[in-house]
Amino acid sequence: MIRSRRAATMAAAAVALAGAAAAQQAGPSDPAGDPTGGPTGPEAGRAAFIEACAGCHGREAGGDGPTAELLTVEVPDLTRFAARNAGTYDIVRVIQTIDGRQGLAAHGGPMPMFGGLLTGPAAVVDGPDGAPVATTEPILAIARWLETVQEETP
Ligand code: HEC
Repeated sequence: MIRSRRAATMAAAAVALAGAAAAQQAGPSDPAGDPTGGPTGPEAGRAAFIEACAGCHGREAGGDGPTAELLTVEVPDLTRFAARNAGTYDIVRVIQTIDGRQGLAAHGGPMPMFGGLLTGPAAVVDGPDGAPVATTEPILAIARWLETVQEETP
């Protein structure tokens, strides 16, 4: 993976603008590096998930959080996210679901609910097509933790 200070700076600018178009200018780097630990690792992601997502999705991401029964829409079991997509875990879709680029009505737009996650330090991840996707450390951490809890059976 190519690392460059310039790319990281551009990624930070892209996240500051919070625009998908701006994200395309970010370079191919992952400033936080290590996928197993640190601010973008699954441990940090689990903590952030419990704080921001477990109310609806459940502590183990099974779709059974205490708020789930109050909603008129069904809360998906996120451990089956890959299984629902022919076994492929699409990390970019998870990131964009959290930051609002996928525009789920139940997520109510990114700012009111996930503002704290969106203002975290910038991070960049490579998308499946190799194009860099700009996000923030807490969002990337959550996406990486969710990857670790995927059920394999279809
Ligand atoms: C207010 C309850 C609520 C909270 C809080 C919430 N979600 Fe959701 N989430 C939902 C609902 C409901 C859906 C399904 C919406 C739909 O299909 O339109 C959903 C859908 C998703 C999906 C898409 C699942 C799929 O199979 O397409 C992902 C990924 C997701 N949420 C992740 C998260 C993460 C990560 C957080 C925390 C940052 C979070 N959600 C916080 C209610 C919530």
